[in-house]
This record gives sequence, C-alpha cells and structure tokens, in this order.
Amino acid sequence: MKNMLVTGGCGFIGTNFIRYLLNESDFSGRVINVDKLTYAGNPENLFDIERDFPERYIFVKVDICDCDGIARIFDDYEIDTVCHFAAESHVDRSIVSPDAFIQTNIVGTFNLLESAKSNQDRLQLFYHISTDEVFGSLGREGFFTEETPYRPNSPYSASKAASDHLVRAYYKTYGLPVIISNCSNNYGPYQFPEKLIPLIILNALEGKPLPVYGDGRYIRDWLYVRDHCIAIWELIKNGKRGGTYNIGGNNEVENINLVEMICDILDGLQKSKDNKSRRELIAFVKDRPGHDRRYAIDSTKLKKELGWVPEESLETGIHKTIKWYLDNQEWVDRVRSGEYQSWIKEHYDFGNCIIRDKN
Ligand code: NAD
Ligand code: DAU
Repeated sequence: MKNMLVTGGCGFIGTNFIRYLLNESDFSGRVINVDKLTYAGNPENLFDIERDFPERYIFVKVDICDCDGIARIFDDYEIDTVCHFAAESHVDRSIVSPDAFIQTNIVGTFNLLESAKSNQDRLQLFYHISTDEVFGSLGREGFFTEETPYRPNSPYSASKAASDHLVRAYYKTYGLPVIISNCSNNYGPYQFPEKLIPLIILNALEGKPLPVYGDGRYIRDWLYVRDHCIAIWELIKNGKRGGTYNIGGNNEVENINLVEMICDILDGLQKSKDNKSRRELIAFVKDRPGHDRRYAIDSTKLKKELGWVPEESLETGIHKTIKWYLDNQEWVDRVRSGEYQSWIKEHYDFGNCIIRDKN
C-alpha cells in the first residue's frame, strides 16, 4: 500500500482518519486527499498535517463526479488503495434537496469505481465507508447484522444504499477487491455543527434553544470517531475482500437523554451566564419526516475477525468531544460564520482540479 486515495478527507470522519493514519498508525505510504470542499469540507483541519508530512500528504480539490479529474488522480499518483468517505452526509439536507445526494453519493461512487476498474492491475483495495441507515429502522428489540436486508427511509440512506450495491456489484461482476463497512452515528472533533452533538454543545454554550425532534425518544448507537478510524484501518489491513462489516459503539441512548447528559456535563464545566441549568434550554420541535426510530449495531463479526473493540465509552467520548469544542472556539467561529468558505474561494478555487500539489 503506497498511494492511498482518501476521498472527502476534509470532512469530519475523513479528517479524523487522515490524522489517525499519519499521526498514529503503522501506515507508511502517501495519502492523496481528494475533496470538492463543499460547505462540509474544511482544509484547515489538516494544515498541521500538510506542514508535518510534506512528502506523505497531498491535497487535491476535485469533485468525485468529475470523470477526467478522478482518472488523472489515479494516473498521476499511481493509486493502489481507495478509502472512500466523500458524500453528502446530512439527513435533513437530503429531505430538502436530494439532488446533490444522488450526484455525489451514487454517480460519484460509480465514477470512482470505474476509475478503480481501469486501474485494477494495481488496485489492492476499494474501501467504501457506509452507514447503518441503509438498514432502515429497528423496533425495541434486535440489532442490525451484516445479513439485515436493506430498507433505507431517507433520500440520504437510499443514496448510500445505492452506492453500497454498486460497490458490491463491482466485486461480483469484475472482481474488484472491495470492502464495505456500515457504521453507526459518529461524534468527536471536527464535526460540522449541523449534527446533533456539536449543535447541542454550541447552542448550550451560547444559551440558545436546544432543538429535540418529536418526542426525543429516538435511539442512536454512538461511536467515538477515532474508534471508527481504528476499525477502518484494521479492516484495510486485514478485512476480507468482498466482505461487509458492521461497526458500532454499543452505546444506545435516547436523544433526549443524550441532550440532558451534554447539558449536565457543560453545567459542571462552565456555569451558564444566568446560572440556570442548561436543561431549561431544551425545546421539543417538529419531527423529521420519515425519522428512523432506533438504530443498534451488532459488531460481532468485526470483533471476532479482527479483535476490534471501541476504546471510548459514551461518557469518556462525550467529555473529550465537549472539551475539544471548548478548546477550539476559533475553529468553531470560522466554521459557523462560513469564513473558511470565503478563504477557500480565495486560495483554492481556481479551476476544477489540482490546487495544492506536493509532487
Ligand atoms: P461530512 O459531511 O463531514 O464530510 C463529507 C466530505 O465529503 C466533505 O469534506 C465534503 O467536502 C466532501 N465531498 C462532498 N461531496 C463531494 C464530491 N462530490 N466530491 C469530493 N468531495 C466531496 O461527512 P462525514 O460525517 O465525515 O461522513 C463521511 C462518510 O462516512 C460518508 O460517506 C457518510 O455517509 C459516512 N458515515 C458517516 C457517519 C456519521 O455519523 N457522520 C456514520 C456512518 C457513515
Ligand atoms: O447512523 C449513521 C448516520 O448518522 C450517518 O450515516 C449520517 O451521515 C449522520 O448524519 C448521522 O445521521 P443522523 O440523522 O442519525 O444524525 P443527526 O446528528 O442529524 O441526528 C441524530 C439524531 O438526533 C436523530 O434522531 C435526529 C435527532 N436530532 C437531530 C438534530 C440535528 C434532533 O433531535 N435535533 C436536531 O437538531
């Protein structure tokens, strides 16, 4: 594994993965990070990586839907491994404007698969990062396993399901060496504050209402992002080609309880201005259409085959996450004001392709 193409490396999980790969793992090759830099992509997340690994980290601004741009990346950097994170990832946005989800998640994945197939002699692995949302919703009992039938309920999860099927088909039909993993809800540093946990942390700090959809009794299975990154790296090295793996934190909690937990931790760390409990900011709001009631992952296969278990509990992970947001207020301000977007326009937005090339 010499040249790993990471797509969507300026987003939340991609950033954490590249940081883990270069700072902590035993990977010794180069990372070529390809990202379109949508609202969710922030190259600032990796400035220290650019500085510390000038020979091993390359950033290229490309849309994965751009066939020629992606074909060039495979040729120019002799890509032998693909780790595909790039996606439109927010369910609420997919309900309002699904178009970009169809383009990036389905057409973009197809485009990457085509380039990978054209370079099959060199390709060791096409790793596709997917979601537990493809399985739909659980009742009170049971867990998603690798055998659970697909039943996506939102335009986001339907687009991810379509991309999973394409990846699987390229394994079956063309023998492309693929792995698909379906992971539960991630949280941790660098998450864009439209997602529940960072949104609640930041609103609570500012004394703003904390929106909880519907009755707040929806259940998610939370996984600290670094634990997800470790699982991905272990699977890249030792996962069975053609295999699918479920990844989860075994941390089921109702949204309302999670929001209350964040309020209480924040109250303990930093009193609110009016000295009131932040729980008083909780506001039950209109529900998300098609809202899946419960997700819960059975990660037995991953544990058995690779011995992976998450290092963080929900309590330790949430503490670390809150601390990260408290310590990185400038990052938060720039992301929230959209300031990094105008910076990107100035520094990165000339043409559609190579921007910062360390070759
Ligand atoms: P994110 O929205 O934070 O980041 C997505 C990244 O992809 C951004 O950097 C964005 O600029 C880039 N991107 C979007 N469209 C692109 C395009 N057309 N071409 C190139 N780059 C493009 O998402 P995330 O939360 O980091 O999720 C990463 C992957 O993990 C996604 O595939 C998502 O479906 C999956 N996933 C996420 C979670 C979660 O809880 N966040 C859980 C399971 C699986
Ligand atoms: O399960 C994995 C998925 O987790 C990933 O595939 C998605 O990319 C990721 O966005 C996430 O999807 P969710 O819809 O579960 O995440 P979100 O943070 O948007 O919402 C978590 C739960 O909290 C969900 O039940 C909806 C609820 N919610 C969310 C927001 C933003 C609220 O109650 N209030 C809110 O303001």
